[in-house]
Amino acid sequence: MYYPDELIEEVRTKNDIVDVISGYVRIQKKGSSYFGLCPFHNEKSPSFSVSQSKQMFYCFGCGAGGNVFTFVMQYENYSFQEAVKLLAERAGVNLPEAEYNEEIRKRESLRTRLLEVNKEAAKYFFYQLRSERGQAGYQYLRKRQLSDETIKKFGLGFANVTSNDLVQYLKSKGYEDRLITEAGLASFDEKYGLHDKFWNRVMFPIQDSNHRVIGFGGRVMGDGKPKYLNSPETMIFDKSRNLYGLNFARTARTNNIILCEGYMDVIAMHQAGFTQAVASLGTSFTAGQANLLRRYAKEVILAYDSDGAGVNAALRAIGILKEVGLTGKVLNLEPYKDPDEFMKNLGREAFEERLNKAENSFFFELRMLQREYDLSDPESKTKFHREIARKLCGFSEEVERENYIEAVAEKYHIGFDNLRRLVQTYAAQTGLAVPASRPKSGIQKKSDPMENKRKPQRLLLTWLVEEPAAWPKIKKYISPKDFTEDLYQKIAEKLFADLDAGTLNPAAIISLFTDEEQQREAALVFNTKLVELDTTAEKEKAFHDIVLAVKRNSLDYLSGQLGSDISALGKVIEGKKALEELSKTHISLN
Ligand code: GTP
Ligand code: MN
Repeated sequence: MYYPDELIEEVRTKNDIVDVISGYVRIQKKGSSYFGLCPFHNEKSPSFSVSQSKQMFYCFGCGAGGNVFTFVMQYENYSFQEAVKLLAERAGVNLPEAEYNEEIRKRESLRTRLLEVNKEAAKYFFYQLRSERGQAGYQYLRKRQLSDETIKKFGLGFANVTSNDLVQYLKSKGYEDRLITEAGLASFDEKYGLHDKFWNRVMFPIQDSNHRVIGFGGRVMGDGKPKYLNSPETMIFDKSRNLYGLNFARTARTNNIILCEGYMDVIAMHQAGFTQAVASLGTSFTAGQANLLRRYAKEVILAYDSDGAGVNAALRAIGILKEVGLTGKVLNLEPYKDPDEFMKNLGREAFEERLNKAENSFFFELRMLQREYDLSDPESKTKFHREIARKLCGFSEEVERENYIEAVAEKYHIGFDNLRRLVQTYAAQTGLAVPASRPKSGIQKKSDPMENKRKPQRLLLTWLVEEPAAWPKIKKYISPKDFTEDLYQKIAEKLFADLDAGTLNPAAIISLFTDEEQQREAALVFNTKLVELDTTAEKEKAFHDIVLAVKRNSLDYLSGQLGSDISALGKVIEGKKALEELSKTHISLN
């Protein structure tokens, strides 16, 4: 579905970026921009900025950035077209009906194709589970007490014993080998050719928060190894930014999210009515996932396995939750191993009770810590108390810290004043937890030589956006062709035309790109950090250096092509002359 540029621009201008982002993130005005905590990475002090005048956002911490469409794409995990649709609705702009034809199909991005092939595979597995050949899988799931309704809701399926029937099927539907491999559904082997990744397993399609299949987990039916086989990460499957079950949990409208370890746990929870359950994707819980959860609930209840590995994973997860400002609580599943087993044995009411009794994560940490000490021995006991005091220093807010000191003192029979003094001693030695300082610049130092060529090009474009008055001073030296990256060249073309026409509009330029990565890169082009310079002379020198660096790089690039293109010779000679002239010319910025 492709919309005309004017329409896209209309949608964009009717959705003020500050308004839109305020609906998702708390931002505050500071100087000419708004600042808040970045929703795309884990941070404690705000480096996420939104500029009303540029109609762009940019994070100096992680480099996320773009216009209002980019924001919606990243936040909602939407494609460009979907973001346009959402914002059109928000602003009451009517969009024409979708139109599909061969031409448009060809332009569809790899991303869309990957989603398609995954969906097709999920349909195939789903169908197999219900066929004669899938009986073993179906019986396995039934034996694990999943109802037909649950199997359907989660789209569970079966991968046959034969080793390349999915490949055959997908090929018959017109999908190329490369796409099937890229989706992680098959791999290539000298001896066997293209063959399925999954076989003889029950299949769990993994969906993003918009119900689109982005990968699979496959479980052996029995004790084989590995127990679970997961799709590799692909362009659409980022394991650190998705959660199993989130597509349902996000609309559960409970005050909490239940975080489990396994897919089967999530499914058992949902079947019992706890539709707020999610699990990570075969890897440990990440800050990206914590940030994702922050959008849906304030409190996360950990329902990890009760064995040693589960406890360690829970302790790790608590730290991550705390960092993004979520409250963590821990569920006690004893004497059962995991939520699935608990549910089977004690049922939903008992689970509900445990949920209400979930333990404050700080007390859980202390309880786990206590196991390392012998409280009947005064020396060991003292060490334990010191350790508690040290941990209490982690609460940077005084009221909170005092409340915890009070609660801990009571729980562990320590005199309140004694504990408080101990905390103060530690605080004096090591300091209380303070928010991390703001990163100086989001641009990571790259030793990549290409980066040294790109940077001046970005600096120049940012400079012209910030100070359009500089354009007439250099326009006779610089043309879009001097930008050696395709993306930069495209931006320069539009930017220079806009500057000539006096209609500077950087956010609109970002809409030229429908790919999220390109939008991010384009936003970087407009937000490259310029060094703060005091005097005009310093500024003029810096600007001159940048222009010269761009020109020199452009000439290098052209010379590099000499071998293959004889007509370039004239241009190189011409370019050399221009460069010489430029290096001698003073560019005044007044
Ligand atoms: P069931 O035994 O079917 O009940 O599994 P479970 O859902 O209880 O999962 P378990 O607690 O054994 O493991 C938790 C999660 O870790 C699973 O959902 C998988 O995502 C992942 N996992 C488990 N085993 C493996 C494995 O062998 N390889 C990989 N890559 N991931 C695994
Ligand atoms: Mn289990």
